[in-house]
Amino acid sequence: MSLQQHIEIALANYIEKYAATSPAYEAICYSVLGGGKRIRPVIIYTIAEAYGVANYKLDQAACALELIHCYSLIHDDLPAMDNDDMRRGKPSCHIKFGEATAILAGDAILTLAFKVLAEPQQNYPAETQLAMISCLAEAAGARGIIAGQIRDIAAEGKQLRQDALEQIHREKTASLFQAAITIGSLATQKKPNLSNLGELLGLAFQLQDDLLETYSTSTKLGKPVNSDQKNQKATHAGIIGIAAATQILAETYNRAKEIIETELPKTDSMLAILNTLTARSN
Ligand code: IPE
Ligand code: IPE
Ligand code: MG
Ligand code: MG
Repeated sequence: MSLQQHIEIALANYIEKYAATSPAYEAICYSVLGGGKRIRPVIIYTIAEAYGVANYKLDQAACALELIHCYSLIHDDLPAMDNDDMRRGKPSCHIKFGEATAILAGDAILTLAFKVLAEPQQNYPAETQLAMISCLAEAAGARGIIAGQIRDIAAEGKQLRQDALEQIHREKTASLFQAAITIGSLATQKKPNLSNLGELLGLAFQLQDDLLETYSTSTKLGKPVNSDQKNQKATHAGIIGIAAATQILAETYNRAKEIIETELPKTDSMLAILNTLTARSN
């Protein structure tokens, strides 16, 4: 079974357990299950695995992180934000269920993430679990995704400097990649020196995402390709051009590769993820 299939089952089980009787159930299933690359939870599993920690021990954390990501996509697509009507190859949550249900399903998924991560468990000490909860809250919260999303919206139609754009990417996107690395590391009970890795992966991921929007198709990406243009978003391609942006992307992935090669005791799976990310077309 692939890690993606493993995550899909784990997510479905948690939704059944904690949301089956909710009027938000259908919208929750719609936006969490059956789509998405699951890259963030895969990173958690892979970092832990590099230190010999079995996958199943990270199920709560992996699902919690993916749930936060799924909720952030529902809200990101809302009319008041990016106003995009397609996500993961199907109508966005608010198109399918209406705006009020989409907002509330997002709230429910965000809250479910913490319910899942706080479940009693025997895979690591309670202090480690608390540290994971705190890490996820920080990444999702006022100084993490929310900061980036507010700055992202406020910057629409404005000229941004490259460092200001990177701050937005660090907050709205790299926060969750950093949380994936930190949470995976916490489960190992070691203190690997991977602090920069999540940031580099997140920055590269968002830069690449914006580039894909300029040359891919909505069928391939499963989301609109005119969103940044429509909303007059600042992007690397807009500020420094596609060639320079592509160069920065390659450099950022190379720096991530160096950290993986020098810091991880077992590098093959994480390098495979890096290759998948570098070559991704959606
Ligand atoms: C989309 O993330 C949002 C960005 C940070 C660019 P993903 O590309 O990981 O979305 P899914 O989960 O695969 O749909
Ligand atoms: C997504 O940013 C970041 C979050 C959802 C927090 P974008 O708005 O650039 O991503 P897409 O293009 O909608 O996936
Ligand atoms: Mg957005
Ligand atoms: Mg968007």
